[in-house]
Parts: sequence; structure tokens; C-alpha cells
Amino acid sequence: MANEENPPSSIYNRIAIAGGAFSPSAPISRVTLFAGRHQQVMRSIDVVYRRGQHGIIFGERGVGKTSMANLIADFISRSDKVDVPPRFLTPRVNCTASSDYDSIWREVFGRIPYFENSGETGLAIGNFASKLNDKKLDPGTVQNLLEAISSQRDLIIVIDEFDRLRDTKSRRLMADTLKTLSDHSIDATIFLVGVADTVDQLIAEHQSVARSMMQIQMQRMEDDEIKEIVQKGLDRFNSQSEDFRLRATDEAVAWITTLARGLPHYAHLLAQKACYAAIQGEQPEISLNHVMQGVSSAHDEAHQSTLSSYGAAVYSAHKNATLAETLVACALADTDSLGFFAPRDVQKPLSRIRKKKMLQIASFSNHLEEFCESKRGTVLEKRGGKNRLRYRFTDSLMAPYVIMRALAEGKIDPNVLNPSRPTA
Ligand SMILES: Nc1ncnc2c1ncn2[C@@H]1O[C@H](COP(=O)(O)OP(=O)(O)OP(=O)(O)O)[C@@H](O)[C@H]1O
Ligand SMILES: [Mg+2]
Repeated sequence: MANEENPPSSIYNRIAIAGGAFSPSAPISRVTLFAGRHQQVMRSIDVVYRRGQHGIIFGERGVGKTSMANLIADFISRSDKVDVPPRFLTPRVNCTASSDYDSIWREVFGRIPYFENSGETGLAIGNFASKLNDKKLDPGTVQNLLEAISSQRDLIIVIDEFDRLRDTKSRRLMADTLKTLSDHSIDATIFLVGVADTVDQLIAEHQSVARSMMQIQMQRMEDDEIKEIVQKGLDRFNSQSEDFRLRATDEAVAWITTLARGLPHYAHLLAQKACYAAIQGEQPEISLNHVMQGVSSAHDEAHQSTLSSYGAAVYSAHKNATLAETLVACALADTDSLGFFAPRDVQKPLSRIRKKKMLQIASFSNHLEEFCESKRGTVLEKRGGKNRLRYRFTDSLMAPYVIMRALAEGKIDPNVLNPSRPTA
């Protein structure tokens, strides 16, 4: 613990550095903290250099879509070097349920400055939105303006949270715009980004723009990519902390990887909390014990929406813990690449949790059905017919939370998911 030579202020300082080395709540904004995603970055760069091509970045919630979209220009121009002026203009907008085609493009143009003299050496005196009149924007106007701007500066436009755009007319106009830009070979690149399993889900009009759209699917991260997140954060901590270095045991990293389930948010959150625990104990080596302390504090900080759906899912008027056990088993079930699992995938983990040989599916299938109902927070959704039923967590961030909570509350034996000692 802190003593005369190590006053608490130095601990606060280290905690602050560890806080900045990981980023659980915000998209990554620096290339140096960005891990993995090699294929997707290569495809995105390819899109930028193919005239008339645009990109569509899609995947589950929280897999890292925004982080990658935000950094494409930086990967190309290496503008993380502060003395190099950015080569690209990178307007980025987030759609909301009330956005429409006009509001999205006004916001995009509002983020593009124009200069008194040509080039960025002149003084920025306004933005392109102020050049628009009140008439609703249409694909032709957008095309003309983008053509004029892109003749002077390279443009990468990111339209994020596209799944939240409900207005079907606006979605169709957006598809028309992409097609027009592509047909006229306008040298501006647009990335549509959103939560979806398939491209068609994100943009139903996709068929008409298929040739001009490169699909970039963001899957859950591989274990090595999750490990890279932990290592990059530790490297950053060590480069900033003068008198205290941190490293992690292989076991600690393996646990963070297992618990994160391919979701970078949890890798940041758990690594950060484990760092805090090690710093407070003044131990330079992050051990499994620190990760477990991290699990306790990480699960305390879950989003309110996660907490309330969890509560609804497992609430029981009778003292009956079996719903909670089934939910943990669902969270531990093997899934396909879209996060779906079958009832038989729940069978094994649930049997391990209940310390039974092999439970019958019929003994818990009613729980799976209940979890899909609103009275249970619709914590699961289902697909497929009677004999091919598959389920998945409606909120991808829920499964790791459920596991962490069960661990923190001592409801499951860590051996049930011990990454270094699988208990198959
Ligand atoms: N390649 C990466 N390397 C390191 N950290 C990452 C990477 N990608 C994402 N993250 C981290 O994961 C978390 C989620 O990332 P991000 O917000 O980009 O995901 P998203 O798919 O856009 O989420 P949402 O669906 O909620 O919009 C953030 O905390 C971010 O810091
Ligand atoms: Mg995002």
C-alpha cells in the first residue's frame, strides 16, 4: 500500500495514465491504440483509392465499426504525426431516428470548411452548409457540391449509425446518391456504417448499388486481436509512466480474452480495471487476482439498460435461481459468427454449472422461450422453425456482462470457464 516514498498522489497519477491508456467507452481515435483488423483496414483503403467506390461497414453492436471508420484517413496519411497537415477532409455524422436525407447532408456540409484563398493555407471563413439555400437537398445537388469540393481536397465521408435512419425515402435517396456519385466517378468516398448482420439489412436498396459498394464486415475480434488491445494499452501506460511499469501474466491476459468474447469494449474495460487493481496494490505484474477484482468493479459499471434487461430476465418471485443459471449458460454457449446458438449449445455449460451429467434440453427450453418475451426484457431473440430454433442475445454486450456478474457474485465456479484449463 501507499507509504512515505509512494504517496497516494503518485497512485492517482498512475490511475490517470491507465485511464487514458484504455478506452472502454469511446471509439478509438488514435492509430497507435488501434489493434488488429488488418483485412478490414486494407479493404477500406482500397475503397478510398478506387474512384467511384464506396464502403459499407457493418456488424454487431460494439465490435469496433466506428473506430475503424474514423481512422481510415489516418491509416493512409499517417496524420498521427502532429506536424503533418491532414490530407483528407473527413466529415463524420451520426444518424438518429429523426434524421433524414436533407439533415444528414446539411450536417456533412456543415463539417466541411471553406477557405478564403484556395487550400488550407487560407483562412477558414465558413462551411459549405452556409452556401445552401432552404430547398430540400436532392442527390443532384449533393453530387454537384461534392464534385466541386473534391476537386480541391480529398474527401472521406463517414455516415455512422445508418441503421438508425428509419425514413425509407431517405434511405432510397442515399442509395441513389451513391449510384450517381459512382456513375459520374466523383472523387469522394462515402462509408455507410451501421449495426447489421448483412448488407441488405443496412441498405435494402443495396442491389442497385452493389457494384459501387465494397462490403466490409466487422466480425468479433480474434483472441490475438484482443490480446493486442491489452498489450497496446500496457505499452502506452509504460511509455507515459516514469517510475512504475506494468506487465500482465499470460493467465491474466487469457482471462481477459475469454471474458471479452471478441468484444473490444470489454477488453478495454477489464484491462483498465485490472490495471487499477495492480496499481492500487503497487504490484507491477497484473495477475488473475487483479482481473477478478476488475470483474467486480467492471460489472458494477454496466449501462442502466443492460442492468434493467438483466433484472427482468432473471427476476423470480420464488427463490428460484435456475433462470439466472440458464442465462449464464446461454452466455457461455458456443455461437456461430452472428452470435446465434442452438439449445444443445446451452446444454453443456448448463450441465457444468449445475454439476449434472447431461441435462435434458426439455428441462430448460421454456427458459429460452421466456427470455424472448418482453416480460423477461427480451434479452434473447430467436430465429428458425421448430426443429432449427436458434437464439442470440439481443444486445451483444449482455453476454459478457452476465458471465462477469455470475463470477463477481460467486454464482459460478471460475473453472466452468477457465481458459487455461478447459473443463470440457
Ligand atoms: N481495433 C480496435 N482496437 C482497439 N480498440 C478498439 C478497436 N475497435 C474498437 N475498439 C474499442 O471497442 C469499443 C467499441 O468500439 P466502437 O465504438 O468503434 O464500436 P462500434 O461497432 O462502432 O459500436 P456501436 O455499434 O455501439 O456503434 C470502444 O471502446 C473502442 O475503444
Ligand atoms: Mg459506432
